Amino acid sequence: MCVAADWRRLYWWVVLQWLVGVALSAPCAQRCDCLPKLLIANCSSRQLSIVPSGVPDNTQTLNLTNNHLKTLSRRQFSGLTQLRELDLSDNLLTMIEVEAFAGLQNLLELRLSRNRLKIIPVGGFSGLPNVQFLDISENEILVLLDDMFREMASLQKLEASENDLVFISNHAFGGLANLQELNLDRCNLTSVPIEALSQLTGLMRLRFCRLGLTTLPNNSFRQLGRLQDLQVSQCPWLDSLAANSLFGLNLTSLTLSHCNLSAVPYSPLHHLVYLRYLDLSYNPITTILSNLLGDLLRLQELHLVGTGLLRIEPGAFRNLAFFRLLNVSENRLATLEESAFHSVGTLEILRLDGNPLACDCRLLWVMRRRPWLRFEGHSPTCVTPVPVQGRTFADFTEVEIPRLFTCRQARILTRKPQDVRTDEGHTILFFCAADGDPAPSITWLNPKRSVLTGSGRIRVLANGTLEVRYAQVQDSGYYLCIASNAAGNDSVSVSLRVRGFPASARNRSGSFFLEGWSFASGQAAVNGSQPFPFDVKTLVIAVTMGFLSFLSSVAVCFVFMFFWSQSKGQIKHTATIDFVPRSTATASGGGRTMETGRFTMKLI
Ligand SMILES: *[C@@H]1O[C@H](CO)[C@@H](O)[C@H](O)[C@H]1NC(C)=O
Ligand SMILES: *[C@@H]1O[C@H](CO)[C@@H](O)[C@H](O)[C@H]1NC(C)=O
Ligand SMILES: *[C@@H]1O[C@H](CO)[C@@H](O)[C@H](O)[C@H]1NC(C)=O
Ligand SMILES: *[C@@H]1O[C@H](CO)[C@@H](O)[C@H](O)[C@H]1NC(C)=O
Ligand SMILES: *[C@@H]1O[C@H](CO)[C@@H](O)[C@H](O)[C@H]1NC(C)=O
Ligand SMILES: *[C@@H]1O[C@H](CO)[C@@H](O)[C@H](O)[C@H]1NC(C)=O
Ligand SMILES: *[C@@H]1O[C@H](CO)[C@@H](O)[C@H](O)[C@H]1NC(C)=O
Ligand SMILES: *[C@@H]1O[C@H](CO)[C@@H](O)[C@H](O)[C@H]1NC(C)=O
Ligand SMILES: *[C@@H]1O[C@H](CO)[C@@H](O)[C@H](O)[C@H]1NC(C)=O
Ligand SMILES: *[C@@H]1O[C@H](CO)[C@@H](O)[C@H](O)[C@H]1NC(C)=O
Ligand SMILES: *[C@@H]1O[C@H](CO)[C@@H](O)[C@H](O)[C@H]1NC(C)=O
Repeated sequence: MCVAADWRRLYWWVVLQWLVGVALSAPCAQRCDCLPKLLIANCSSRQLSIVPSGVPDNTQTLNLTNNHLKTLSRRQFSGLTQLRELDLSDNLLTMIEVEAFAGLQNLLELRLSRNRLKIIPVGGFSGLPNVQFLDISENEILVLLDDMFREMASLQKLEASENDLVFISNHAFGGLANLQELNLDRCNLTSVPIEALSQLTGLMRLRFCRLGLTTLPNNSFRQLGRLQDLQVSQCPWLDSLAANSLFGLNLTSLTLSHCNLSAVPYSPLHHLVYLRYLDLSYNPITTILSNLLGDLLRLQELHLVGTGLLRIEPGAFRNLAFFRLLNVSENRLATLEESAFHSVGTLEILRLDGNPLACDCRLLWVMRRRPWLRFEGHSPTCVTPVPVQGRTFADFTEVEIPRLFTCRQARILTRKPQDVRTDEGHTILFFCAADGDPAPSITWLNPKRSVLTGSGRIRVLANGTLEVRYAQVQDSGYYLCIASNAAGNDSVSVSLRVRGFPASARNRSGSFFLEGWSFASGQAAVNGSQPFPFDVKTLVIAVTMGFLSFLSSVAVCFVFMFFWSQSKGQIKHTATIDFVPRSTATASGGGRTMETGRFTMKLI
């Protein structure tokens, strides 16, 4: 009986609902479908050029997408106080009047994407105290004006991507203290709107894409202490980040992809100790240096796809005790050594495909860890050596791994003793050729056991040869060549003895002249760098040359005087100089009288 009563009640309830439904559907606006139970008015794709009247007052969702609406006038939706969702996407809107949405005090979502808005007047969004989501993407908006969102205190997510934004006014985001997510993808900004962003103190996610930036200045995101996820991508001119550009942020996720960064921005990142996700894909980064990511203690994922990466140095991921995903596919890595990681035990996902991998002992650890590592369906492939070329890591059987993934220790081939004695000023070469698998790297140490580089007077040439140019006495000693590869190292020592100028000559002339120049000689003696354009030796030589030329001039003089005196037989003490006085023309008889004179001078 009870059951029968229930059934009857249910029957009447259904009939009642139907009647109510019919009653409510009747006043639905022309050309719209009203779904009264769901409180939806579907006016989508009805070729409407004005907002239809007669939409039931209790409608919660009004869908006006894909029509021909051009303008929204003041208080356009005033009766719809129950409206929660308003979708105006895909229309031809160019104009929104001030207070167009006034009265929609319960509206939660407003969509205006894919219209032709160029500007939204201040006050256009007034009277929307509860809107949480606003989509103005894919319009032609050029500027965001001061206080344009002022009365949208509840706004949590603002989608403003794909506009022609060239300017965001300093107070454009005023009043948006609750905004959590802002998307500014694909706009034409050429700088970060630092001042405007600083008002978004509650922001948690920020996306920028296709900005015309060249650098990210210091304090770009100050005041955004709650930001967790920052994405900057497709900035082809962005080639540097100022050291303090990310200052004030406490990110857990950072994407800087498709930009022009040529190195991992170690110092801008180092304070992000809560960072878990880092994506630097598609930047021209060739090396991950050792020990420079160690501050990112909680880092779990690193993506560096398609960067042309050549080398991950040993210790690159030291201290990263939670590191679980490395995505370095599509790069130029020949290998990835276990020593790069803090511990490979935490690593779960490894994307190493698309690299010219050399399958030798350095990658043995990957093979050994196959049961615990996931390649996510993209198993790496061997490119060298020839016997395993083209085989994927998943192919190898446990049995053949120890035989194939091998290395041959570095071995120096030039074993002949190289003991060179030479005079100062000569150039000497020491050879150090080595082989091994993988090809060993060659390092030279000087007699003080510090590493020599490829530049300077004493340098290592590209083929491993050591070159000592203009050998000096202090270059003497034993030099050590070390060839090393993953399987081990080998070394050989060579000796150089440089003989200087005779010590006595150096000593004497040095002390003779340098008394007045003791400061110069002191520094020059301490190290090879010369504070003056000449050194002691040059001075000595110049002085010696000066003396020589002085002495030879004197000698020539004496020789000349000797011959002169010889030609006269004896040295005279008087000189007689004949002179012809000026001829004085006399008129007497047209004749000329010449007067000759004589003058005697005493020589001392
Ligand atoms: C709204 O109407 C359009 C056009 O008639 C239709 O394509 C669409 O599926 C409808 N949407 C809903 C949610 O009923
Ligand atoms: C409005 O209708 C279109 C087409 O049916 C649909 O794609 C869109 O999601 C609807 N909007 C809302 C807010 O339901
Ligand atoms: C924005 O950038 C795009 C692509 O670079 C360009 O086509 C468009 O004209 C720019 N718009 C403005 C307003 O500068
Ligand atoms: C950024 O700040 C650092 C540290 O204060 C400073 O050394 C550097 O010069 C600044 N860079 C720029 C571009 O202002
Ligand atoms: C990227 O940087 C390189 C040098 O680091 C420069 O030659 C190149 O022009 C830059 N690319 C762009 C698009 O600015
Ligand atoms: C930084 O973020 C982490 C995780 O989001 C949080 O636990 C930590 O308290 C934040 N630190 C500061 C100084 O805000
Ligand atoms: C690695 O990066 C590529 C390219 O960005 C992406 O498609 C792939 O999903 C990433 N793999 C993992 C495991 O995240
Ligand atoms: C290495 O290069 C230098 C100069 O380029 C050359 O003189 C020397 O012979 C080379 N050494 C070897 C072992 O090929
Ligand atoms: C060379 O190998 C030895 C052990 O084989 C090791 O102790 C040493 O550190 C290595 N030296 C270099 C420079 O790699
Ligand atoms: C000068 O000669 C003496 C001994 O002849 C030697 O002890 C001294 O080191 C020399 N000084 C210099 C600067 O060569
Ligand atoms: C060279 O001398 C200058 C001045 O005495 C000193 O500051 C510098 O450290 C020296 N350099 C070397 C490599 O000894």
